[in-house]
Amino acid sequence: VTEPATFYEAVGGAETFHRLVATFYREVAADEVLRPLYPEEDLGPAERRLRMFLEQYWGGPRTYSDERGHPRLRMRHMPFRIGPIERDAWLRCMRIAVEEIGSEVLDDEHRRALLDYLEMAANSLVNSTF
Ligand code: HEM
Repeated sequence: VTEPATFYEAVGGAETFHRLVATFYREVAADEVLRPLYPEEDLGPAERRLRMFLEQYWGGPRTYSDERGHPRLRMRHMPFRIGPIERDAWLRCMRIAVEEIGSEVLDDEHRRALLDYLEMAANSLVNSTF
């Protein structure tokens, strides 16, 4: 048996990232803090950008950079005021999405790594003290 070469492969590849981000945006659509931040009525394009980014980050296809160039996430989030409330709302939606992926796909070790990364990344994008 060949060991998966990347985190992306180890957790089920495209299908897992699709599910994760679809669930996340289902939660965003219903979140009164986050939903107003998204400029477009259709969350579909934003969902696709986040999915491509996360796939690339974890060793999957590099479609994000092919389409969007360097991520520059801090700069790209500057148009939005992201304080502790927005960060917590974002993480709450993400934790729900991660929880909904079963342990047969995402074992404890990979789940922990994913949650730790998301928490670190969300903290790094906070650009307001309120
Ligand atoms: C884009 C909010 C954290 C990755 C966006 C957009 C908003 C937003 C409103 C614009 C939607 C769009 O047009 O794509 C937030 C808030 C966060 C947060 C409130 C709370 C901390 C994160 C984190 C990541 C991330 C932690 C990565 C792990 C992205 C990506 C895009 C994006 C990849 C699209 C960038 C582009 O190519 O234009 N975010 N975000 N965001 N966000 Fe976040």
